Amino acid sequence: MSNPPVTMSERSGAAIITIDRPDRMNALSKDTLLALGQFARAAVADANVRAIVLTGSGDKAFCAGADLKERHGMDENAVREHLARYRDEMGIFDRSPKPVVAAINGLALGGGLELALACDLRVAAPGAVLALPETTLGIIPGAGGTQRLPRIVGEARAKEMILLGRRVGAAEALAWGLVNRVSPETTPVLEDTLAFIEPILSGAPIAQGAALDAIDASFDASLAHGLELERVFYDRCLRSEDRRLALEAFAQKKKPVFRGR
Ligand code: COA
Repeated sequence: MSNPPVTMSERSGAAIITIDRPDRMNALSKDTLLALGQFARAAVADANVRAIVLTGSGDKAFCAGADLKERHGMDENAVREHLARYRDEMGIFDRSPKPVVAAINGLALGGGLELALACDLRVAAPGAVLALPETTLGIIPGAGGTQRLPRIVGEARAKEMILLGRRVGAAEALAWGLVNRVSPETTPVLEDTLAFIEPILSGAPIAQGAALDAIDASFDASLAHGLELERVFYDRCLRSEDRRLALEAFAQKKKPVFRGR
């Protein structure tokens, strides 16, 4: 039996989902995509998981995008079906009520970068390279890249990356806001990511979920409607036990231990 294309482990409240096809540069075959979605659903449903970290095995690639060998044998309808699968499975990461962080350990190309764009935060290894080369293959990004990239880096930079298929290194990606952080040379990106998100792992899950919902809603809403939505999401925190715990801990000069209730 062949090895599973994706694995999941748990550390300090983080579900670590790893694409494990280093001989294929962690490319996204149909099975890989389905396994990613399955693990993401399980992590979202697991009350002990505070955040999801997505990474790739090995030090070369986070994910080289669509499995082009598999794609080669697909007719037009099969590709359409596969794109719908991308939307469904990547949507789990995008809509997760728990923060999702990409630990980009190397190349993130095409669907690999689109997967990282569906995450809330991105941390890159210093040698990571990010690109959407689809137009150089006669297609366009079909897993959210044309929509999520401009929201993150702005229209001009998104058009530059997509029309030129230009590769962006970690330092430039940081300057563009395409990644939140670049790991130091001395620290593996997964370790660095787990340390970086410690405030999430020990933080208040209901507040974090409400913050994600409020920020995500801002892209579709007028300012007036967005402010109204913020009030609704705030109310969710107001009713939480964690809010009371935080006030009690402050009064006692202690660090609150949040329970997600
Ligand atoms: N799908 C399937 N297999 C892939 C792949 C992909 N997207 N990317 C790499 N691989 C495979 C290669 O075919 C090779 O396997 P093989 O030796 O059995 O043929 C193996 O991974 C290593 O890749 P290789 O090209 O030898 O390594 P490299 O370091 O010289 O280059 C890449 C790595 C990722 C830059 C190069 O493989 C590449 O450009 N891949 C296509 C990426 C792409 O365009 N993705 C977007 C699709 S829209």
